[in-house]
Amino acid sequence: MTMAGPTHVLVHVNPDIHKNHADKIVDYFDKPNLTDFTAFCRCWRSRDFPYCNGFHHDYNKLLGDNVGPILIRRKNV
Ligand code: FES
Repeated sequence: MTMAGPTHVLVHVNPDIHKNHADKIVDYFDKPNLTDFTAFCRCWRSRDFPYCNGFHHDYNKLLGDNVGPILIRRKNV
C-alpha cells in the first residue's frame, strides 16, 4: 500500500530535556534580558534550552524537517 503526501512518524518532541518533571515544562521570563535578537529553541534539542544553540540545523538535515527557533526582537523605545 502506498500513501499520498508526506508521511509523519510520531516520536517524542522532547527527547531528553528535564524528563524528571512530572508535568509539562514551562519556562517563565518575568523580565527577559534580551539582546537585539534572542532565539528560543523549538526543536527541543538545544543544549542551552530554552535558548537555541543552532542544533536545529543538524536536526533538520538528519530528519528532513524544517524546524527553527522563535526570534524575539527587543523593541527599541
Ligand atoms: Fe532548537 Fe535551534 S536548537 S531551534
